[in-house]
Amino acid sequence: MPRYAYVNGQYLPHDQAAVHIEDRGYQFADGVYEVVPVAGGLAVDEIPHLDRLERSLAELRIAMPMSRRALEIVCRELLRRNGIRNGLIYIQVTRGVAPRNHSFPAHARPALVMTTKRMNFDGQSKFRDGVAVISAPDLRWARRDIKTINLLPNCLAKQAALEAGAYEAIQVDAEGKVTEGTSSNAWIVTKDGMLVTRQLSNDILHGVTRRTILAIAMEEGIAFEERPFTVPEAQGAREAFVTSATSFVTPVVEIDGKRIGDGKPGLLSQRLLSWYRDYMAGLRDGA
Ligand code: PDD
Repeated sequence: MPRYAYVNGQYLPHDQAAVHIEDRGYQFADGVYEVVPVAGGLAVDEIPHLDRLERSLAELRIAMPMSRRALEIVCRELLRRNGIRNGLIYIQVTRGVAPRNHSFPAHARPALVMTTKRMNFDGQSKFRDGVAVISAPDLRWARRDIKTINLLPNCLAKQAALEAGAYEAIQVDAEGKVTEGTSSNAWIVTKDGMLVTRQLSNDILHGVTRRTILAIAMEEGIAFEERPFTVPEAQGAREAFVTSATSFVTPVVEIDGKRIGDGKPGLLSQRLLSWYRDYMAGLRDGA
C-alpha cells in the first residue's frame, strides 16, 4: 500500500512529498507541530490537540492553514488512505515560503504538512519493564508552552540520553527543578503516595496526555499536586514516569543510574497506563 503525505492541499506519495527550500520552517524553525495518537483507527484527544495547534499558531501570529473542520477531515482521510489503525498523525504548520529575511513576510501563506506513522504499541518493553532516564540542563527558550518545531536542545538532550543507554532526558531548569522530558512530561509519586507533576506555565509544554492523566486521577480519587520537583526528590520517590502521545504512561525505573523504588514499574504508574489504554480504546468515557 503506498504511503501518502498531505502537503499544501495535495495527497502525495510519501517519497515524493517535498517543500520549498525557502520554507521558513526549514530556514528559521518558524512553525509549530502536533503529534496526535491514533488508536483503533481513531485520533485520540483530537480536540485538545487541535486546540493546542491553534494556540501555538496564534502565539506566533501564524494563521490557521485551513478551518478546524477541514483539518479534521484531512486527518481522517490520511488515516484511511494509509490504513492506520494504531500509530500517530503528525501535523506541521510553518509561516510559509518567502525569500530569507528574519522579519515576517508580507504575503506568505502558511504551509501545512501532515503525515501518519503506523506503530505497534502492544507489548513494547518500555511499558512492561520501564525505562532509564538521565537528567540534562534545560537549554531551551522561555516559551516552551508553544509546540514549535525548534527542537534542537531537545534533540541534543535526547541523543545524550541514548548515548547513556537511557530512553529519555529529564530537563532541569536554572533552579534545579525538573521542567519536563525532551518529548514528554515528567511525573513522580512521592513516598506517601502523592502524584506530582510540574504546574502549567511557559516553562513546559501543556501535554495533552498530562491533561488526560490528571482527569483520570481526579476521577479515580488519586491525590495529586502540580508543583516542581528536583532530581534528588525524583530519585528518592516511590515511582516516576513520563507521559506523551507516543509513550502514554512510561514507567521510569532509573534516573542518572539511581534505581527508583525497587527498580520495577510502580503500581500507580501501571494502573494509570492501564486506565489510559482503556481511555484510548474508548472503554472509558472522556476522562
Ligand atoms: N512530544 N513535552 C514536550 C517537550 C513534548 O515534545 C511532548 C510531546 C510532551 C507531551 O505532550 P503530549 O502529551 O501532548 O504528547 C511534553 C511529541 C510526542 C513529539 O515531539 O513527538
